[in-house]
Amino acid sequence: MSYEIATIPGDGIGPEVVEATLPLFEEVAESHGVEVEFTEYDWGSDRYLDEGAMMPDDALDRLEKSDAILLGAVGHPEVPDHVTLHGLLLPIRKEFNQQVCERPSILFEGVESPLAGYEGGDVDFVVFRENTEGEYSDVGGREHVGFDHEIAIQTSVFTRQGTEAILRAAFEAAQEREGHLTSITKSNAQAYSMVFWDELVEEVREDYPDVEVESLLVDAASMDFIRRPEEFDVVVASNLFGDILTDIGAIVTGSMGLAPSGNVNRSGEYPSMFEPVHGSAPDITGEGVANPIATVLSGAMLFENVGEEGVSEDLWEVVREVLADDSAPTPPDLGGSAGTEEMVDALSERL
Ligand code: NAI
Ligand code: MG
Repeated sequence: MSYEIATIPGDGIGPEVVEATLPLFEEVAESHGVEVEFTEYDWGSDRYLDEGAMMPDDALDRLEKSDAILLGAVGHPEVPDHVTLHGLLLPIRKEFNQQVCERPSILFEGVESPLAGYEGGDVDFVVFRENTEGEYSDVGGREHVGFDHEIAIQTSVFTRQGTEAILRAAFEAAQEREGHLTSITKSNAQAYSMVFWDELVEEVREDYPDVEVESLLVDAASMDFIRRPEEFDVVVASNLFGDILTDIGAIVTGSMGLAPSGNVNRSGEYPSMFEPVHGSAPDITGEGVANPIATVLSGAMLFENVGEEGVSEDLWEVVREVLADDSAPTPPDLGGSAGTEEMVDALSERL
């Protein structure tokens, strides 16, 4: 089989982690008789500063031809974050109907959690975050700018179809895992959107009678991600709540440098996009020390998505083995001193 993968290295450490990991993906794919062709798009903040747009007008048409997309990160100290987000990431997620954002949080063997008493293997859950609507909908406005009565309105949008799509993806994942689903809500305060969410959970669960459902308010969940992360299996949340909770998930399992994610188009009509959870990390850009593992695991999710389970499993396995091996190089975010290239070399050797 042969696949065309679009890569958008983006800003900051994005190009560092994407460029370092592509040879590893090629190597693993080749060992399974799988051919990959990468097409790189140099879109991002530098393009915005030069030409006034993060990506060209025909960007989505060009990406649409690919089998999947690998993104590094976007975000630049001289460009407002809402410009980078609305100029690249959000249009791709929305226009390619990537309604499901899947973010695993795993405390790997050999990785230290900032939580006392936790060891590798203790934490292993996945958050399903709604990805194209909710609190990140582009609905609202500003009025009376500059006057005392200036006003800003930002409206959340929850559709039956979109909410059901994320719930069903999460229920299906729970069936394949431990059979436990935690639904994140805030229906005590948000009596329209979150009550609607809760009602749909009750409706959809009828189709998955073997899944046990727990409902948690988002503030309580934030506490419990730290107090009892070992008890979660599959977590389903709205766009904003999922965004926040997955940063907690990433840090309690060791580092932002380990957390992968997928933005999945469920129907297969459009390509899905895979990216590390972390941003462009301007504080370490150019130092060659960014941990590439979040990108490697995002690649593992990408290969699973296109149907290459074997390639995916090998990538997960080399990461597990290198992290568990005391004598293998360790990156700075995990307490060692190995740079990006050295980490990729260690993974490659393990193959
Ligand atoms: P960030 O994730 O870039 O960095 C947070 C902290 O984690 C920093 O101390 C950074 O050095 C560290 N870190 C992140 N990735 C790492 C890696 N691979 N290896 C080692 N350490 C790593 O988040 P921050 O600082 O809030 O945002 C920086 C920029 O990135 C902003 O412009 C923000 O808007 C953007 N951003 C973009 C995202 C995306 O492209 N999906 C997601 C999150 C933020
Ligand atoms: Mg985030």
